Amino acid sequence: ELNALLLIVGAYLLGSISTAIIVCRMMGLPDPREGGSGNPGATNVLRIGGEKGKKAAGITLLFDMLKGLLPVLLAHGLGASPLVIVLVGFAAFIGHLYPVFFGFKGGKGVATMLGVMFGLSLPIGLAVAGTWLFVAKVLKISSLSALIATILAPIYIWFLSGQVEWVWVSAVMTLILFWRHKGNIQRLLNGEESLIKAPKETND
Ligand code: G3P
Repeated sequence: ELNALLLIVGAYLLGSISTAIIVCRMMGLPDPREGGSGNPGATNVLRIGGEKGKKAAGITLLFDMLKGLLPVLLAHGLGASPLVIVLVGFAAFIGHLYPVFFGFKGGKGVATMLGVMFGLSLPIGLAVAGTWLFVAKVLKISSLSALIATILAPIYIWFLSGQVEWVWVSAVMTLILFWRHKGNIQRLLNGEESLIKAPKETND
């Protein structure tokens, strides 16, 4: 149906706006695709951002989450079916990974998937984001906390909503997210993955 298609295409286009690249450009930071892990995402913005890293990474995280959250909330608001709702989120996620505006070279999808989870329902978002934050706090590795949180996402969704379409589509998102993290997984297995390090606070 036309409305569903418009929502899905709109979500893909919104997802395609790479926050990391735009924020770094606006804040006079190096291109995140050319420094650190080369990934246009919040973790790498923190890594390469120096003193501005925390702020730049926070903005990147926020807007990359909103790209997933807002289209899904809109779909809910327009009374779309559960399948359309989750496909709208999936489209935003794919836009973030394969952005039409940036040569189809995007990020790894963690923040946008988190936003989609919050859009599906608040308890689902809290469960996945809570897992992510908790593991990040304990292990201090961004990629590993994202991998653990997202592999649990379909299970949380099953228990918190019972929506079978949401379970399946989120499982596909998790698979794609793992695929995008192959370099990270290799580094984790080799014990070479970098830790999350916040830049030192300055006293100005
Ligand atoms: O969100 C991406 C994160 O899981 C890993 O990023 O830059 O460490 O590869 P990075």
